[in-house]
Amino acid sequence: ALVSMRQVLDHAAEHGYGLPAFNINNMEQIQAIMAAADACDSPVILQGSAGARKYAGEAFLRHLVAAAVETWPHIPVVLHQDHGASPAVCQRSIRAGFTSVMMDGSLTEDMKTPASYDYNVRVTRTVVDMAHAVGVSVEGELGVLGSLETGEAGEEDGSGAEGKLSHGQLLTDPDQAADFVAKTGVDALAIAIGTSHGAYKFSRKPTGDILAIDRIREIHQRLPNTHLVMHGSSSVPQEWLAVIREHGGAIKETYGVPVEEIREGIRHGVRKINIDTDIRLAMTGAMRRLMAQKPDEFDPRKFLADATKAVTELCRARFEAFGSAGQA
Ligand code: G3H
Ligand code: 13P
Ligand code: NA
Ligand code: ZN
Repeated sequence: ALVSMRQVLDHAAEHGYGLPAFNINNMEQIQAIMAAADACDSPVILQGSAGARKYAGEAFLRHLVAAAVETWPHIPVVLHQDHGASPAVCQRSIRAGFTSVMMDGSLTEDMKTPASYDYNVRVTRTVVDMAHAVGVSVEGELGVLGSLETGEAGEEDGSGAEGKLSHGQLLTDPDQAADFVAKTGVDALAIAIGTSHGAYKFSRKPTGDILAIDRIREIHQRLPNTHLVMHGSSSVPQEWLAVIREHGGAIKETYGVPVEEIREGIRHGVRKINIDTDIRLAMTGAMRRLMAQKPDEFDPRKFLADATKAVTELCRARFEAFGSAGQA
């Protein structure tokens, strides 16, 4: 059944686990995530970005998710809108049947310029008023996502601040977070703690302590009833990078957020963990490998079936690592 974000994250908080929120763009990704959830009995958060809406169209996303709910009726599913650029975008998603929306007021509507605190409060409050009136949950974001290593947002295409970010911008301030939640009433809060979107998060192998765990703990202590969200939480599996490189791909050396660090975040109040890049890497690796191994194959279903299987394995590993397996 489709449920609100608040319902699943309240359950996660009560039982001390985290939920991966996977980005969806097509049928294969949705089927892969659902098959993994079914296999290990986990609730699911499916999230669609502006890029997903542009790629598939809102009607296709909506009907594909409806098909998933019909196929796996025993799995609770949240349909979440990722990184809404304005209250108008969130309003459209609420009308389209999303059960949760993110108003990303950390950036202005161009999704490239860090926004003022007052702007963020104003647009987020507007969305909370709209969404809560119809039982839809709201995620806000405070702080600007970017690497503490480089001061850069990371994402080369989609959303992300342009130019160098200061250390202050890259870490959410706990006092401001408390004020933000009091003023907006958000259900979930995305915080900046050193992660960034995309595949290029860290140039060297993380040695532990790459997240600002102290910040997570401080914010959680101030806001025990607000579910904390980590964006940019792909782990960038080195195994998939190797598969891609062995079969004609050219992705330069890069590292993501280790699963163990995410587990540490979950122990300190993180409940929603956004993952997109890992799905892209697994699908690309699986498809490249099969194309190289079977150069005479031309049925796209063969490539997509392998890609789906790769994503199912990846998602299942995350459900198990974050503790949501067995919680559906
Ligand atoms: O936050 C960004 C997500 O990875 C979505 O990426 O805008 O390319 O769909 P996208
Ligand atoms: P990754 O690029 O690390 O997968 O992050 C995705 C994300 O935060 C979507 O909102
Ligand atoms: Na989101
Ligand atoms: Zn994000």
